[in-house]
Amino acid sequence: MVVSLVVTAFWAMLPAYVPNNAAVLAGGGRPIDGGRMLGDRRLLGDGKTWRGTAAGTLAGTLLAVALNALVPSASAATGVDLPTFPLTAAFGLALGAMLGDIGASFLKRRSGRERGAAFPGLDQLDFVVGALVFAFVAAPVWFSATFTLPVLAVVLVMTPVLHVVTNVGAYFLGLKNEPW
Ligand code: CTP
Ligand code: MG
Repeated sequence: MVVSLVVTAFWAMLPAYVPNNAAVLAGGGRPIDGGRMLGDRRLLGDGKTWRGTAAGTLAGTLLAVALNALVPSASAATGVDLPTFPLTAAFGLALGAMLGDIGASFLKRRSGRERGAAFPGLDQLDFVVGALVFAFVAAPVWFSATFTLPVLAVVLVMTPVLHVVTNVGAYFLGLKNEPW
């Protein structure tokens, strides 16, 4: 029961987990804010680029398409009835994850945090909230069927833990400059 909730939550959120990591690998180039300032701070900063955002959104969407092909075998292997992703849901999860992270950078700059500074809480949940809101808007029927309240509860508890673990891992692998 709990195991099937965790498996479902993880599966349904995979298209939202991958974009930020893909952006780290693919990022660089022109910043989204084009260097613009708001007051005496950057609007977003050099850490939010067009290339990283596009690559992350594409990676999350393509992953969902790949997962759709694996649903039968993954469901059989886990004994859990896993969801497929309509394209609207896949795109909403991936783009929402990227935009949630971008929104967090906006808030970080407004609160005087430099690029790369930690904002505990926000760092772990910005992309989750973005992904869930966008998936809800893009595919409300699918969203309601997939993200039941127990699944949502698991997502909100599990994601910060996974986020900390993967970012510390990426830091030690030399992929990220900070362990958050
Ligand atoms: N990245 C990107 N575009 C995005 C998100 C991330 O290019 N939309 C890349 C950038 O190279 C960024 C790296 O991934 O430096 C790490 O992402 P993140 O930790 O989100 O950015 P920070 O550099 O820490 O900047 P911020 O303080 O604004 O979060
Ligand atoms: Mg960062």
